[in-house]
Amino acid sequence: MADDTRASPGGDSFMILRPATPADIAMLHRWESAAHVAANLGADPSWDWAADIASPAREILIGEADGRPIGFLEILDPARDETGYWGDIGEDLRALDIWLGEAADLGRGLGTRMMRLALDRCFATPTVAAVLVDPLARNADAIRFYERVGFRPVGPRRLGEDDCLVLRCDRDDWVPTGG
Ligand SMILES: CC(C)(COP(=O)(O)OP(=O)(O)OC[C@H]1O[C@@H](n2cnc3c(N)ncnc32)[C@H](O)[C@@H]1OP(=O)(O)O)[C@@H](O)C(=O)NCCC(=O)NCCS
Repeated sequence: MADDTRASPGGDSFMILRPATPADIAMLHRWESAAHVAANLGADPSWDWAADIASPAREILIGEADGRPIGFLEILDPARDETGYWGDIGEDLRALDIWLGEAADLGRGLGTRMMRLALDRCFATPTVAAVLVDPLARNADAIRFYERVGFRPVGPRRLGEDDCLVLRCDRDDWVPTGG
């Protein structure tokens, strides 16, 4: 997968998504354990950061605002995922996961900007038709967030041990940032 960074102009800070490296693993563990993240990860998050960073099926990305690491974002090719999390699924999709590391950063628009960069990155591959997300069905805040950036509910789905709501952003629903 591409390892370039895409910048998002506008807003109060300069946002990029950059590939995570093994040097980020301690920070990723810290973020994953933060109360606002752990509460929304589901029963079996099974993140293995070293393996995930090395995996050809996924990009593990770090959002940086003015050079400060603020959040995690995964772009997964679900058809190539070694864990088979999404089951039997088409070749023309991507699936995202996102969280901000610090509670103090929530609700300031940073997640929206990371998400827009991620959608630009996904749809830069011409064969990608749509992007999926799978928040816990009870995570109403995240569902509202995803709907606001262009996702539409597909329906409830049991994934692993969790009751999720799958949402989808089709290429036609994507508004490029131009960043
Ligand atoms: C979901 C998340 C990435 C959104 O990023 P963000 O920067 O907080 O969101 P933005 O400021 O860009 O947009 C605000 C919207 O995000 C949503 N949101 C989700 N969780 C939120 C939180 N804890 N605090 C504030 N807003 C939150 C709301 O829809 C909010 O809109 P509102 O004004 O109608 O309440 C971030 O809140 C987060 O990391 N949440 C905890 C982990 C999580 O739930 N991740 C999703 C797992 S599927």
